[in-house]
Amino acid sequence: MHMLYLHGPTMFLMGLFFMSVFHSSFGENSLLHAYYHGDIIIGGLFPIHLKTNRTNTSGPLSCSDYDVQMFLRSQVMIYAIREIKLPNITIGYDIYDTCGDVSLAVRATLELLNNQSDPQSCLLPSEAQMKVVIGERYSEVSIAVARIVALSSVAQISYASTSKFLSDRFKFPTFLRTVPSDKYQTRGIVELVKTFLWQTVIIVGSDDEYGLFGSDSLEDTFSQDTNICVEFVQILSADFMTNNSQTQTELTELLEKIKNSSAEAIILFTKDTNAEIILEAAIRHKVNRTWIASDAWSSSPKISAMPDIKLAGEVFGFIFKQKEVPGFKDHVMSMFNGTENALLKDYLTQNPLCSNQSVEGRKKCLASYIDQDESYRIYLAVQVIGEGLRRLLKCDTHQCEHSSKFTASEVQ
Ligand SMILES: *[C@@H]1O[C@H](CO)[C@@H](O)[C@H](O)[C@H]1NC(C)=O
Ligand SMILES: *[C@@H]1O[C@H](CO)[C@@H](O)[C@H](O)[C@H]1NC(C)=O
Ligand SMILES: *[C@@H]1O[C@H](CO)[C@@H](O)[C@H](O)[C@H]1NC(C)=O
Ligand SMILES: *[C@@H]1O[C@H](CO)[C@@H](O)[C@H](O)[C@H]1NC(C)=O
Ligand SMILES: *[C@@H]1O[C@H](CO)[C@@H](O)[C@H](O)[C@H]1NC(C)=O
Ligand SMILES: *[C@@H]1O[C@H](CO)[C@@H](O)[C@H](O)[C@H]1NC(C)=O
Ligand SMILES: *[C@@H]1O[C@H](CO)[C@@H](O)[C@H](O)[C@H]1NC(C)=O
Ligand SMILES: *[C@@H]1O[C@H](CO)[C@@H](O)[C@H](O)[C@H]1NC(C)=O
Ligand SMILES: *[C@@H]1O[C@H](CO)[C@@H](O)[C@H](O)[C@H]1NC(C)=O
Repeated sequence: MHMLYLHGPTMFLMGLFFMSVFHSSFGENSLLHAYYHGDIIIGGLFPIHLKTNRTNTSGPLSCSDYDVQMFLRSQVMIYAIREIKLPNITIGYDIYDTCGDVSLAVRATLELLNNQSDPQSCLLPSEAQMKVVIGERYSEVSIAVARIVALSSVAQISYASTSKFLSDRFKFPTFLRTVPSDKYQTRGIVELVKTFLWQTVIIVGSDDEYGLFGSDSLEDTFSQDTNICVEFVQILSADFMTNNSQTQTELTELLEKIKNSSAEAIILFTKDTNAEIILEAAIRHKVNRTWIASDAWSSSPKISAMPDIKLAGEVFGFIFKQKEVPGFKDHVMSMFNGTENALLKDYLTQNPLCSNQSVEGRKKCLASYIDQDESYRIYLAVQVIGEGLRRLLKCDTHQCEHSSKFTASEVQ
């Protein structure tokens, strides 16, 4: 694990770009997804919109907060799939935008499991089958998806869900990931606090699988292995990220408690959308402290680009080993003259265009959103699948001994 020191904005304003590569569909009442036919289909689950308008009442949901970085990550999956070369077997994909919502992700998963033929074609159902799904990002969503896909023995590979809970093979027999469990991250955070000889810390978690297990695990490690005092643990309410009036009340109280405390560091073990709300309020209320970021937000470009982020104090974060996806940057830069795709079009209908930027400016702007952690782990997930298929189907460079008809459990 590497330590990152976040200080100062390094972001560009967003531009307009057209890219794409795939044919997709987006109809009323249907989930936003991008489909490409193949003998074998790899499912994808990405929170391309980070939020929904979910409240405590039931009803239809709409998605908001389109995230360009997540969009680009979904493109990494497509890019990586195209790199898999298996003799006379084509690999397709069906990538859903889950909006980071458990119910929407469950619906997408059910569609992935049921929809075994091209939804846009009138042809007879093909042999295509989804054998494996890549995703989701958030642990809470991955856990719900893991319970469903296990029924069909479909393998699941997450690129970002770090919850220790997901390591339970008995509960999640088909779950795999290309990111380490929080077990290691919590040790890293404790070591950091020890290194700086801090005596007292505050832990802020959130009411979701990631935040709850992460803060629990931190609290345990501090009390068992160190003399460091955890002054208090605050668990944010489940709907904190909606940033409604209740959130503001909760925030005011939290910041008050932080101001009253002499703790040397505040550990925010929660997703990026929550961390953003807290730091924005800290800046507004002039709370200048030392913050420790969990992997979920340590490299968030949105947070490092927040105006006056320096006023909130210093931020230390943990990120996993980083690596560039080979060739992806060039690929993105060359994708400008493609046709639009549904995921991008959806964004363009809701956001004003940065149309006065030059083409070069737009390319640079877009490329600046390519990250080297989650993207690389998505790339890795696809490569693992490619290698698995090659072995399973007994392929050499010219042919495969077996056809693409096999049961999903064999993939593992
Ligand atoms: C929903 O939340 C609001 C406050 O955000 C509260 O006033 C209302 O009573 C809640 N409704 C239910 C059904 O819990
Ligand atoms: C969310 O937004 C959609 C569309 O604007 C609306 O129909 C729906 O009632 C909203 N849902 C909630 C829970 O507010
Ligand atoms: C397949 O997906 C489409 C949306 O793309 C949906 O309308 C249709 O009902 C699905 N079919 C099945 C069998 O689930
Ligand atoms: C903060 O300290 C003040 C003064 O000691 C006290 O009145 C207040 O209740 C404290 N606030 C919280 C949230 O603990
Ligand atoms: C949350 O809501 C408050 C008050 O409505 C607003 O000032 C603040 O900018 C919002 N924070 C974020 C991160 O959107
Ligand atoms: C925040 O506090 C630290 C330590 O007390 C101080 O060095 C730093 O200048 C402060 N930053 C701001 C923006 O006030
Ligand atoms: C589109 O791509 C082709 C080759 O990839 C390139 O020659 C051409 O200049 C591009 N057009 C634009 C408008 O970028
Ligand atoms: C784009 O237009 C806005 C106002 O519409 C202006 O403030 C900005 O400087 C322009 N950017 C460029 C790169 O021309
Ligand atoms: C691949 O192509 C060869 C010849 O074109 C054919 O004999 C073989 O059955 C094909 N294999 C699969 C898995 O479709």
